[in-house]
Amino acid sequence: MASIAVCPGSFDPITYGHLDIIKRGAKVFDQLYVVVLNNSSKNPLFTVEERIDLIKQVTKELPNVKVDEFHGLLVDYAKSVNASAIIRGLRAVSDFEYEMQITSMNRVLNEDIETFFIMTNNQFSFLSSSIVKEVAQYGATISELVPPLVEQALHKKFNRE
Ligand code: PNS
Repeated sequence: MASIAVCPGSFDPITYGHLDIIKRGAKVFDQLYVVVLNNSSKNPLFTVEERIDLIKQVTKELPNVKVDEFHGLLVDYAKSVNASAIIRGLRAVSDFEYEMQITSMNRVLNEDIETFFIMTNNQFSFLSSSIVKEVAQYGATISELVPPLVEQALHKKFNRE
């Protein structure tokens, strides 16, 4: 039986930190669904379609990665694609409490779906979509933080092309 996992997130936008987790997750699982939370209560910079498009482009070399969106509960989405695992990245101790809360809740909701954590490569341990947006809006160089396509998309959003 194929091992299937979901890697959920906001991905607003995808960074090299996310990509690191996705690549490593895709080595371990037969099929990895990278899924973007479609939640109208958040106020994202990129639309869900834009985020999906960027993720698709930067993961196109990974044949076992599919990109999708979800709304509602993650465990329900996972079940709908027969995934038995959730993958999350852990950057630093500060992530732990939030991740423990999500993981515990997901386990209450569906105990058959296991969450696995991948430690982010040290070079990305400070990196988040928020921090990238924060500096990109002032025109900082972000080429070491996000793939070139994402860098272009950010500069376009902030009218810094
Ligand atoms: O990248 P993020 O914003 O840290 O990802 C958070 C995400 C999308 C994994 C989490 O908010 C989520 O799974 N939301 C869907 C709703 C859900 O299933 N909630 C139960 C677990 S708290």
